[in-house]
Amino acid sequence: MLEQMLNNFEQENLPKINNYLKSNLKKDINQTTLADSMYYSLMAGGKRLRPLLTLATMTTLNHSINEDDLRATCAIELLHTYSLIHDDLPAMDNDDLRRGMPTNHVKFGAGMATLAGDGLLSLAFQWISDNNLSSDIRSQLTLMLSKASGPSGMVAGQASDIEFENKTINLESLKKLHRGKTGALIHYAVSAGAVMSDSNKNLQNLLSIYADDYGLAFQIYDDILDVVATSKQLGKPVHQDDKKNTYPNLIGLKNSYAELEKVLDHSHKILNQIEENYGIDTDLLAAFLTYFKIS
Ligand code: IPE
Ligand code: IPE
Ligand code: MG
Ligand code: MG
Ligand code: MG
Repeated sequence: MLEQMLNNFEQENLPKINNYLKSNLKKDINQTTLADSMYYSLMAGGKRLRPLLTLATMTTLNHSINEDDLRATCAIELLHTYSLIHDDLPAMDNDDLRRGMPTNHVKFGAGMATLAGDGLLSLAFQWISDNNLSSDIRSQLTLMLSKASGPSGMVAGQASDIEFENKTINLESLKKLHRGKTGALIHYAVSAGAVMSDSNKNLQNLLSIYADDYGLAFQIYDDILDVVATSKQLGKPVHQDDKKNTYPNLIGLKNSYAELEKVLDHSHKILNQIEENYGIDTDLLAAFLTYFKIS
C-alpha cells in the first residue's frame, strides 16, 4: 500500500518537476555550450528524490503548492546535479557513466563539466532567491542551502571522501562522512518543505531527524547497490568503491543491511511521534522509505 502511494505521488509530481526544469533552465544562461552542458546532465534522468521529498513534506503539512514553491523546490535538483558532475570528474571518482549516459566531462571535457557544475550551483541559489516567496522564507532557504551544500555539509563530506581513500576509518567517522556528502542535501530537501509550509520549529526538528535518517540510509543503500546491483539498473558504473570507505567495505554486506534496517526503524519511530504529537498523517513520508529494499 505504501509502495503504491509512492508510485502515485511520483506519477503526479515527477512531470511537474521535469517540466519546470526543462522549460526554465536555459532562461538565465548566456553561453550556448555551457547551456547545453548544464541541460545535458540535468535532463539525463535521475530519480528527482530531493525535490520529491520537498513536495512530499509540503503535502504532508497540507501546504498547497504554487509556482514559486515549485521553483524553489527544483533548485535542489540543480544543486544535486552539480554535485554529481563534479563527483564524476577525473580528479574525483573518475566515472564515465551517469544517469545512463556518458558523464558530463566525457561528453564536454573536464573544463566545461567543471563550469556546468559551477553554473548549476549558482543557479540553484538564484532560484531560491528570485521568486515571490516571502523575504523571510527566501533568506531561511538561502542560509539552509549554503550550510547544506557548502563546506559545513556536502562539500565537507566529499573532501573527507577523497582524503580517506585507501585509508580505513571507523564506523562513527564513516557515518559523519555520509551525513555530510549525502545526508546534508536530503536534510535540506525536507527542511525546505517545512519552512515553505511555515510549520513550527518543534515539528521542523522532528522532520529533520526523519531527514537525517533518510540521508544516512540513502548513502548506506547506495554503498550496498554498488556491490549488489548492475550498471544497467543504476545507470552508473558498479563495483567502483574498492578504495572508498563504504559500509560494505567496512562491516560487510550483511551488517550493512542490518545497519540500514536500524536507521529505517528509527525513522519510522520519528514519523509515529510526529503523528502522535501533531495529529499529522505521515504515511506519505513513510512511503518514501519503501525505496529501500532490504531482502
Ligand atoms: C546519487 O544520487 C549520489 C548519491 C548521493 C548517492 P541519486 O541516487 O539520487 O542520483 P540520481 O539523481 O537519481 O541520478
Ligand atoms: C556521491 O557519493 C555524493 C555526492 C555526489 C555528493 P558517491 O560517489 O557514492 O555517489 P555515486 O555512487 O557516484 O552516485
Ligand atoms: Mg564520490
Ligand atoms: Mg561517485
Ligand atoms: Mg556511490
